[in-house]
Amino acid sequence: MQPLGKLRLGVNIDHVATVRNARGGAYPDPLRAARLAEQAGADGITAHLREDRRHISDADIDGLMEVLSVPLNFEMAATEEMQKIALRHKPHAICLVPEKREERTTEGGLEVAREENRLAHYIAPLREAGCRVSIFIAADRKQIEAAARIGAQVIELHTGAYCDSHAEGRMDDHDRELQALRDMSAYAHSLGLEVHAGHGLTYDTVQPIAAFPEVMELNIGHFIIGEAIFRGLVPAIEEMRRLMDEVRG
Ligand code: PXP
Repeated sequence: MQPLGKLRLGVNIDHVATVRNARGGAYPDPLRAARLAEQAGADGITAHLREDRRHISDADIDGLMEVLSVPLNFEMAATEEMQKIALRHKPHAICLVPEKREERTTEGGLEVAREENRLAHYIAPLREAGCRVSIFIAADRKQIEAAARIGAQVIELHTGAYCDSHAEGRMDDHDRELQALRDMSAYAHSLGLEVHAGHGLTYDTVQPIAAFPEVMELNIGHFIIGEAIFRGLVPAIEEMRRLMDEVRG
């Protein structure tokens, strides 16, 4: 199978806001990071407005909608409050993620199969408003089928377990996770879903995922923002872009 097109890079700027919020001031500014990411070749900016506002704030979303020239991928939990905010802004893309207050980051994929009816009703007005709706899910056949049935246009496969097993040297688990992601990316594509992937990706783990021909977009944040401390934000993004382009040709 030939690559289906250019692999897009969405740069997640949440952790610029995490650093800002550690002191409660105005810097570092996530909007400035977003503009630099655009310059560095990001195809989109991703930001997660969490219910507890631990990093990105409502004002950040207002600002991003105003200044961005690339699309905003707005990550949010499937709550009434977030639906209202999304419908006010009508961002290019919405990615529904599960959210637990006690978690450090988005730990698992969304449970779509058990909430099919509610989620189908939840995403309908978002789609009608012109937003591309994506669902962040595990590489699980049942969840993918449910995502297709509720009318999502996109699924984003959770690469966290694949990345964690690599970092911890559990290479059998790593190979198994990679195979599941590969199989489910092909399966989702066969159902007509656009396939994205993300969570925990680094320079060491990005290429095998970028090599899946069905994957159209990767969303990467934490590693890039960390690496920016050492190389600067633009070179950190450019290197990720280079690694992605290397495998996609
Ligand atoms: N995709 C989704 C749906 C996410 O929730 C996150 C984390 O906010 C990411 C991608 C990016 O993950 P990371 O910051 O670990 O690169």
